[in-house]
Amino acid sequence: MKKYNTVIVVGTSFGDEGKGKFVDILSEKSDMVCRFNGSCNAGHTIIINGKKVILRLIPCGILRPDVICVLAQGMVIDADVFTQELETLRKLDVNVTGRLFVSDAAHLVTPDHIARDIASEESAGDKKIGTTRKGIGPAYEDKVTRKGFRLGSLKTYNGDDVYLLRAKKAFVPYLIDTSEYINSFIDAGKNVLFEGSQGTLLDIDHGTYPYVTSSSCIAGGACTGSGVGPTRINHTVGVTKAYVTRVGEGPFPTELNNDIAERIRSRGQEFGSVTRRPRRVGWLDLPALRYAVRVNGLDSLAIAKLDVLSGLDDVMVSIGNDKPLIGSKEWGNGTVWSEDLTKMRTYDELPESVRLYLGYIEKFVGVPISLISVGPDRNETIVVDQIFD
Ligand code: IMP
Ligand code: MG
Repeated sequence: MKKYNTVIVVGTSFGDEGKGKFVDILSEKSDMVCRFNGSCNAGHTIIINGKKVILRLIPCGILRPDVICVLAQGMVIDADVFTQELETLRKLDVNVTGRLFVSDAAHLVTPDHIARDIASEESAGDKKIGTTRKGIGPAYEDKVTRKGFRLGSLKTYNGDDVYLLRAKKAFVPYLIDTSEYINSFIDAGKNVLFEGSQGTLLDIDHGTYPYVTSSSCIAGGACTGSGVGPTRINHTVGVTKAYVTRVGEGPFPTELNNDIAERIRSRGQEFGSVTRRPRRVGWLDLPALRYAVRVNGLDSLAIAKLDVLSGLDDVMVSIGNDKPLIGSKEWGNGTVWSEDLTKMRTYDELPESVRLYLGYIEKFVGVPISLISVGPDRNETIVVDQIFD
């Protein structure tokens, strides 16, 4: 029997796995959705009735009128981006009053952080990280060296710094002790969803250091970043695309630099939602996925963008060791699917070769697939296992 109704969604690779869409689907049954790490370096894209909405700070749960949204203390937040996002929501007629809460212990991203991020990238030469230049690293640096500015301090701010005055106006109406609030929802047996940003391989401790972001992107980060104990987490879902992408510098063993990469990039619209940079593209890396299962303690996998691979001559996966890449002949029956998957809504409707591919992934990493996305829209999804009751 389930003890709590709490679910963490994390990315298994370098971010942009398609978490936004799954969070959106799971938020239908959530009472609350919490962000616990990162900042506006994230860009969570969801498509509703053909309309694209990109949220960078506020959880996409905000688009469902009954869902409470929380920005917890593991985040660092830019006041101007927060204000712009509220404006975007206002234009979409989304009412946030009484539904949006921000931790008074979250840290402020300042113009100085952005300037430092840019200066550090520009002077790094070939050692640059390829950051999103949103001031994330310097904001966390100030937090960890105990020089940061917590949002709660804005309540009593009486100085004349124009940015801090804007921040005061933007944040003060939303500030609360979010740990207390989230735990009260869990106590009441409500469904709480934790929305991870970036991905396991960008995690400050467990990623491809130094080519990582500056926060805790793994499932454990949901606990430290929100003030919820690990004993209260019920299920952790890892999101992976059916292939892998990476923006920014750093290792990428399965990267492709050929026409297949071009094809996947254009079909999958693999361009950064924050920076518009073309994303690097490669095959699914199963040892890396198995690593993500381990460091997050994943209970299930959600597979995004399966439809993008339809019609390729071969679909490959990396299995590591001496024979890194294998093709469909070795994991399946030698045929790769050409069917359009976007209309399929059940696992059994999927072509046999797709089922072989998915089965191979499950067997290799040792956890079941709970959700499969076969197209960008909310309803273009196969629910294998209903995660929330
Ligand atoms: P930063 O988070 O801006 O410091 O960037 C550090 C690294 O993480 C760079 O490689 C970025 O491209 C990458 N990164 C940060 N946020 C995201 C994201 O939401 N999706 C994909 N990559 C990200
Ligand atoms: Mg993104």
